[in-house]
Amino acid sequence: LDFSFLAEGSNLTSFQCNNDDLNDFLKRDAFRGQNSRISATRLVYWNTILIGFFTLVNDTLTVEAVEACDGEPEYEYGKYPAIKIARLATHGDYERRDIATNMLLKIFIMVKRISKHSGCRMITVDSYPDAVGFYQRKGFKRAQLKEKDTIPLYMDFHKFDTEEENRLIATLDDF
Ligand SMILES: CC(C)(COP(=O)(O)OP(=O)(O)OC[C@H]1O[C@@H](n2cnc3c(N)ncnc32)[C@H](O)[C@@H]1OP(=O)(O)O)[C@@H](O)C(=O)NCCC(=O)NCCS
Repeated sequence: LDFSFLAEGSNLTSFQCNNDDLNDFLKRDAFRGQNSRISATRLVYWNTILIGFFTLVNDTLTVEAVEACDGEPEYEYGKYPAIKIARLATHGDYERRDIATNMLLKIFIMVKRISKHSGCRMITVDSYPDAVGFYQRKGFKRAQLKEKDTIPLYMDFHKFDTEEENRLIATLDDF
């Protein structure tokens, strides 16, 4: 898989996932968001075919939203620093081939690197109900926050940063 930065000339027309809001976001809004430093989008290619994308933003997560076994004991602040997966989608023709799994691994690498420069303890996502099972398989938990059309999930990345993940991450390139 080839992970490229979204750029002005990126050809996005062929991308079609099973969620129209995500297709519209990528084609209409993602570049503007990136250009104004509101969000950052990465495109995923396989043999020059655009088969996935994800968008990250900075976030915070209130201490009460995480389970007692997560987070830092005697943490003295109200919120944890976080990175949010604002959008993530696999092309409909390429689902169930571990593309989203590989996108998550890439995100883990990025969060690991970012957290060397700026604290980043949690990974958050407001998941569409249909995708909650995917994220839970990957170690995300429900955040104790109000649910709207989406379900707030989090991962205590510091705890998830296991030997197995590190071994997998080591097989991928830099970000
Ligand atoms: C949800 C989505 C990202 C999954 O992408 P994918 O590339 O098919 O996922 P993977 O092939 O990496 O799946 C990894 C595992 O999760 C499982 N899985 C995939 N989609 C799932 C779902 N919707 N519910 C439960 N499990 C799911 C797979 O069976 C696989 O299980 P395994 O590890 O036991 O083999 C993709 O279906 C999608 O883009 N959907 C539309 C957009 C969307 O909902 N995005 C999430 C926005 S928050």
